[in-house]
Amino acid sequence: MKIDILTVFPEMCEDFLSRSIIGRARQRRLVDISCIDIRDFSADKHRKTDDTPYGGGMGMVMTAQPIYDAYRACAKDDKPYVVYMSPKGRVFNQNIAVDLSKKEHIVFLCGHYEGVDQRVLDEICDDEISIGDYVLTGGEIAATVVTDAVCRLLPGVLASEECYVEESHFNGLLEYPQYTHPYEWNGVKVPDVLISGHHEKIAKWRREKSLEITAKRRPDMLKNLNLSKEDKQYLEKIKTQEEHKE
Ligand code: ADE
Repeated sequence: MKIDILTVFPEMCEDFLSRSIIGRARQRRLVDISCIDIRDFSADKHRKTDDTPYGGGMGMVMTAQPIYDAYRACAKDDKPYVVYMSPKGRVFNQNIAVDLSKKEHIVFLCGHYEGVDQRVLDEICDDEISIGDYVLTGGEIAATVVTDAVCRLLPGVLASEECYVEESHFNGLLEYPQYTHPYEWNGVKVPDVLISGHHEKIAKWRREKSLEITAKRRPDMLKNLNLSKEDKQYLEKIKTQEEHKE
């Protein structure tokens, strides 16, 4: 997969995406990521990439020309899927990450200031994505978040597929709690079932903990799931327990 990030602050994305799992995936050529400086494409002698908004108002708007030329440079050999990062976009989640991980070539466009001239967005963008209902100073952090979430799904990036199928959101549930050594820390022991060596019992305990934590923190997520009879019975059981506590 190829990912190009169009930005006026390439170092912001480059630094984050050079480290840890994604940095290693790049070194191993599992993904080809370029952080491209939109200023390099400005036709202005001062490398300007913004101007005042028509109609008046605060702040500056990113101009169409440098963005369009940067996009054209990325789209020389194929037609990439272009995503504009913006608080007005559809809200990012794991399903969108899975869909994006199947694309051959993605271009993320990071907005800044008061936004981007709508004409270039209409011309090049296929999608508009927000990472949540809040406003950041620019799209760089958002593009980096989405790139990270997408790249870790690519074949070979994590040690095994199990690494992400067990994670929060992959199966529509939040992940169960994890424990490591020492067996007793601060007077608290690891739950007995985890040292039992009984794989079925461990799987059942983890499933129940996932259901419990999801019901407590994100009951909205349970509505869209195909739960088994056992899952439903367990949820009923903890609901009754909660009612008795009150
Ligand atoms: N740019 C500014 N705020 C943003 C957000 N919430 N998501 C994506 N891009 C953004």
